[in-house]
Amino acid sequence: AVANIGVVGLAVMGSNLARNLASREGNTVAVFNRSRSKTDELLAEHPEAEFVPAYSYEEFAASLAKPRTAIIMVKAGAGTDAVIQALTEVFEPGDIIVDGGNALFTDTIRREKAVRETGINFVGAGISGGEEGALNGPSIMPGGPEESWVTLGPILKSIAAVAEGEPCVTHIGTDGAGHFVKMVHNGIEYADMQLIAEAYDLIRRGTGKTPAEIADVFAEWNKGELESYLIEITAEVLRQDDAETGKPLVDVILDQAGAKGTGAWTVQTALSLGVPVSGIAEATFARSLSSHPEQREAASALPGPDEVFEVADADAFIEDVRQALFASKIVAYSQGFDEIRAGAAEYGWNIDLGAVSKIWRAGCIIRAQFLNRIADAYAETPELPLLMAAPYFADALTRGQAAWRRVVIAATQAGIPSPAFSSSLAYYDGIRAERLPAALVQGQRDFFGAHTYKRIDKPGTFHTLWSGDRTEIEAEDTH
Ligand code: 6PG
Repeated sequence: AVANIGVVGLAVMGSNLARNLASREGNTVAVFNRSRSKTDELLAEHPEAEFVPAYSYEEFAASLAKPRTAIIMVKAGAGTDAVIQALTEVFEPGDIIVDGGNALFTDTIRREKAVRETGINFVGAGISGGEEGALNGPSIMPGGPEESWVTLGPILKSIAAVAEGEPCVTHIGTDGAGHFVKMVHNGIEYADMQLIAEAYDLIRRGTGKTPAEIADVFAEWNKGELESYLIEITAEVLRQDDAETGKPLVDVILDQAGAKGTGAWTVQTALSLGVPVSGIAEATFARSLSSHPEQREAASALPGPDEVFEVADADAFIEDVRQALFASKIVAYSQGFDEIRAGAAEYGWNIDLGAVSKIWRAGCIIRAQFLNRIADAYAETPELPLLMAAPYFADALTRGQAAWRRVVIAATQAGIPSPAFSSSLAYYDGIRAERLPAALVQGQRDFFGAHTYKRIDKPGTFHTLWSGDRTEIEAEDTH
């Protein structure tokens, strides 16, 4: 037994993670894949890495020093269960099985419970950063039992991305906490991407600038408070011309966005938790809307506004869009962190939100300077009730809200869909409102279903006898 860490599943993510592990001082990496050819390929292509190949689960277990630690990198779903089953048969109590795939956190909770009964530790770890991140330093979000962190922590720290001297990995919480946080990371990723796409669309249609010119705008924005990996790659995509047609690549890509499901999970979970993640939801729905060509065809003759959309001052409009993007981004992150807070309360996790923001500063898809401001906010007030109300964000919203409104008005008048911009603004106005028409909804619920209501001026629960003499009575609380 010579290896201190093993990787099962040697497709691109698994191979890259294994190579990353092997390149760090102190690691010897056992590798195993169901079909032998992938293992042989990895060894042949990377003679520089000292891998310990295994061709059966028994051999794999025998090559690992105790406590054995293995990271599973297979497609989420039934395949993961099969590998976990096989590993539990050859591992012993105290060993550690890590699932590094994009598993649904409730599956991770289930698996952790089942594996724990064998005495083996099971850790669901979210890993972000795509293929490149896996190779050069991802952001890692491990859950699972605290004791596994003693062995696993140093190994994961050795391969994680580094932000301002700190490795982008922290023990998030028990059982499914890591995969929960990775799920919300992806939800925020969806929102961020949709907001950037809306900004591009508005600028293009409002100013007539070419994609390459808009690439310059994004590159410029990337020097300021919007600095982020997603803004950076947006400029790269917009600058790319298609080799075949010579047109901007963005004009020849079919406008139907795909999704592998993590955005939908984030929204479904938020609905169950009662957390309004409207920016993430609209971003997810925008992908769904784009992917129904038959419906889009059926709707294509429906009228839009009569006037042609043209902005008077292109530079001023672009600055407004920048402010609207930043304000909407604040809302998206605030909503995402709210979901993590609510998830932690529901599932009994002790999640340090400031630590989460710190491990997202490098390695992952949503990496950005902005995450430092979130870390600052939680450092100042760990029990922050609402991220966007913290001083730095409140100040940005105060500065940006007028521009944000102008952009949403312009988009509405021009008939340019901006679901993420406008839903974020609606959330902002809703959450800051002194009084909401929720009072009327309560009245309606009481009318048709005797669902009762509370009063602003005295404690208790009340019902109006709507079908009787309409006097008010005290009632049982039915919510
Ligand atoms: C990451 C990404 C990654 C995700 C892809 C695809 O953090 O590295 O979030 O985990 O699988 O981005 O997501 P969609 O196909 O759903 O867009």
